[in-house]
Amino acid sequence: MILVVGATGVVGREVVAQLVEAGQEVRALVRDPGRDHGFGGEVKVVSGDLGSVATLTAALTGVDSAFLLSGGGPETPLHDANFAAAAAQAGVRHVVKLSIIGAEYGFTDLVSTWHLAGERAVRQIGQWPNGPQWTFLRPGEFSSNARLWAVPVRERGAVFWSQVDVKVAVIDPRDVAAAAVTALTTPGHEGKTYRIGGPRALDVRERVDILSAALGKPLKLIEVPIADVADAAARAGRQKLVVETTMSNLGRPEFQEKASQVLPTFQELVGRPPRSFEEWVDDHLGLFR
Ligand SMILES: NC(=O)c1ccc[n+]([C@@H]2O[C@H](COP(=O)([O-])OP(=O)(O)OC[C@H]3O[C@@H](n4cnc5c(N)ncnc54)[C@H](OP(=O)(O)O)[C@@H]3O)[C@@H](O)[C@H]2O)c1
Repeated sequence: MILVVGATGVVGREVVAQLVEAGQEVRALVRDPGRDHGFGGEVKVVSGDLGSVATLTAALTGVDSAFLLSGGGPETPLHDANFAAAAAQAGVRHVVKLSIIGAEYGFTDLVSTWHLAGERAVRQIGQWPNGPQWTFLRPGEFSSNARLWAVPVRERGAVFWSQVDVKVAVIDPRDVAAAAVTALTTPGHEGKTYRIGGPRALDVRERVDILSAALGKPLKLIEVPIADVADAAARAGRQKLVVETTMSNLGRPEFQEKASQVLPTFQELVGRPPRSFEEWVDDHLGLFR
């Protein structure tokens, strides 16, 4: 039995779907079990909150391995520690944590620091007598951050963004999920970290051009301050501080150097190349029309 945390989110929903497709028994952890989350009947929905160890211990009973996704905000170290402790109590064998690129290189921005502290907690609890083994996935920026462009593209034919010349090898969240599913369902990933990314480094101008070509209409790209991007993201439900930190990182030369690298790690792990940004756009055009 595999438990998925963050099962209602962008990556977690894909992890659930891909595990079901692979014939695995799946439990989806949600905070609001009363709502219809649209999982198939084969997925068992359990209630739990990363802020409460007691709810997690109950949800983890009978679970062999788990996908851990915490929000990436200041609560991440505590939430990861809670989850690893509950996993140890429940006898879970293996936890695959979704972390972030900055944890790979020891970046000292807030989000990287929070994920690194979360990783540290999971590692430490892994040393307890019943502690779970761990695997950390460290992706760079997701292709799906372009979802934040959907409303202005639909309503004004424009993208309002910052740091538009910074190239990043963006990764499709379906590939982040595929990496997690591989780590959860095939042997030999315990104690390993995987820095995964997409097939090509693209700046925002190039990504907007790809979207414009796929939509068959011109799009304006209007540069705005980071604070405006963060405000818009907050209105869409993102944590403002996380967006501000992430966008500021894009301005740092050391981050740019690492984020633009195209790496073989995904292909080596999953056995196929990562999906392109074009593919993500083609599969999500409805959001922008
Ligand atoms: N976006 C990027 O470019 C990027 C790049 C690298 C790494 N990351 C990392 O990826 C993660 C975000 O992934 P995502 O985009 O798939 O997230 P998402 O779509 O925002 O979904 C977040 C999920 O976490 C659940 N959740 C939130 N608080 C919870 C709690 N207290 N207890 C249990 N579940 C809780 C939410 O459930 P509810 O339905 O209950 O709200 C939801 O399912 C972060 O850790 C981030 O640092 C992101």
